[in-house]
This record gives sequence, structure tokens and C-alpha cells, in this order.
Amino acid sequence: MKIIAKPSIFQNIAKDLKYSGKAIGLVPTMGALHQGHASLIKRARKENDIVVVSIFVNPMQFNPGEDYRRYPRTPDKDSSLCRQLGVDFIFVPKPEMLYPKDYFSFINVETIGEVMCGKSRPGHFRGVATVVGKLFNIVMPDKSYFGLKDYQQSVVIKKFTEDLNFPVKIVTCPIIREKDGLALSSRNAYLSADERSRAISIYKSLQKAKNMIKYKKNVSAQSIVSVIERMIINFADKIDYIEVRDASTLDSIQRIDGSRKIVIAVAAYFGKTRLIDNILINGV
Ligand code: PAJ
Repeated sequence: MKIIAKPSIFQNIAKDLKYSGKAIGLVPTMGALHQGHASLIKRARKENDIVVVSIFVNPMQFNPGEDYRRYPRTPDKDSSLCRQLGVDFIFVPKPEMLYPKDYFSFINVETIGEVMCGKSRPGHFRGVATVVGKLFNIVMPDKSYFGLKDYQQSVVIKKFTEDLNFPVKIVTCPIIREKDGLALSSRNAYLSADERSRAISIYKSLQKAKNMIKYKKNVSAQSIVSVIERMIINFADKIDYIEVRDASTLDSIQRIDGSRKIVIAVAAYFGKTRLIDNILINGV
């Protein structure tokens, strides 16, 4: 396993790999790797000749006052996990290598990047799309792997790759959860024992919503939002949003009637930690 920091060096390696006909799979991450990341790496390992994991805490996707500085960084643990999983390259650029001074160019995904997390974290998806676009140009993957845990992120990334003709197939992978249902996240490391026990209310509320939809078949989106809100409100320190949207367009919807696939997404604070989770409900 090779660890490379310089974009120009990686780009030359990628050109050689492509020239020799190797299929490259890329798993972009911000490190502090856990079993959620591992699931993407395992899938990439199965489907490609060469697996690249990028580890970069991307300053561009954090707003002032967010956790950029204290975001967990565990480089030694991350490289030993990557080695165990048979990763070929870790790409670990430094911020100034991706964003030298006088950096002016961005990928901005309108509309779908401006709702939900894009509304609470203005500019967040511009930062995500820009760094992922840069990674695509440096690593030149055939396929790139993303978790459904960050559902809106996966939709935004699919959209800009399609809109801007990036020759990369976006593969999405299921959410990996703790035994009690809490979605794995690098940010779970911030939670105190008390916050951790309250955080499970998100998953429980989503399960309840899913059962209600299964049982009733035709319900208003508002009634689902209310059910979720009632189940979280006494446990979360603040609810950021509860949204019911079309799974592919992220359009707001009024009724859940089985006519299309929908996503129910929640963002809430436990202490200072903002957690997100979602479930997909298939149309019939
Ligand atoms: P990060 O939060 O490190 O996540 C990297 C990838 O792992 C994302 O595609 C995310 O959806 C996936 N992932 C995280 N937790 C997961 C879980 N419990 N189950 C399944 N997949 C999970 O997302 C980012 O980094 C960044 O925004 C990035 C795309 C790297 C751009 O900077």
C-alpha cells in the first residue's frame, strides 16, 4: 500500500494505471475511518483492480463555527484499516495542495444542494462537490463509492457528475449501523454517554415512520413529520430538520402514497453534535 500526498504525483500514477487498462475504484473520506467506510472499501475492492482511499478533512465544506479544527484525525488507525482491507493507495493531500492561495473555482449544484443540509449549512455542498470533482480529476476513477448515510450528498454528487460529464460511475452503499441502530459516523466520537443514549431516538423514529407507512399505505408527509418530531423532541437538544422528499429529485412531497420512492431525512443536535440519518421508502 502506498501513501501519496501530492496531487501531481497521484495524477501521473493514475495515468499509468489507466494506460495499462486497470479499473480504478475511489472511496473519498475525511478519515477517522469506521465500519461504514470499511463497507465502501470492501465493495470497491470487489469491483476494481486498484482501490484508492482518499483521506482529506476538506476545509471548504465546513462553515465558520463548525468542527473543522476538532474533526477527529486518526491517521495511523486509518492506514492500518486500509492495509487490512487490501487498499492499494491512500491519497492524503494537504489543504494547501488542493487549495493554494488564489483559488477561485467551484462546483455549485443549484436547487438540490440548497435544501435540507444545504440550507442549514450554506456552501457545504459547494465544498463537497468541488473537492469530489478535484479528486475525480486527480485519481481518475472508473467508479467512486458513497454511503447512503449522507443521502443528499450522494444525490448532489450523482447530479454534478452527470451534469458536468465526469466519466465516473457513482456507486451508493447501504447505511452501516451500530447494534442498536445508530448510524455509524466519525462524529459519534463527540457524544457523551448520555448524548449517545439519546441519539438512538433518531433511528427509532425513522423505524416508527416506516412501519406507519407500511401499515397505512397512504399518509400525509406532515403526519409522518409530526410522528418523528414527537419521538425525538424530548431526546434531542435541537431538531434541525425533518424532511420527506422525493428520493431522486429531492422535491418536497405532500402525500406518501406509494407512487414514488421517497427519503425521510432527519438532522438533530445532541449536545453540540449534529447527527443526520435517513430511510428510503420504495414506491410500489
Ligand atoms: P466522510 O464523512 O468521511 O464519509 C465518507 C463516505 O463514507 C461517505 O460516502 C459517507 O456517506 C460514507 N459513510 C459514512 N458513514 C457511513 C455509514 N454509517 N454507512 C455507510 N456509509 C457511510 O462524506 C464525506 O466524508 C465527505 O463529505 C467527502 C465525500 C469525503 C467529501 O469531502
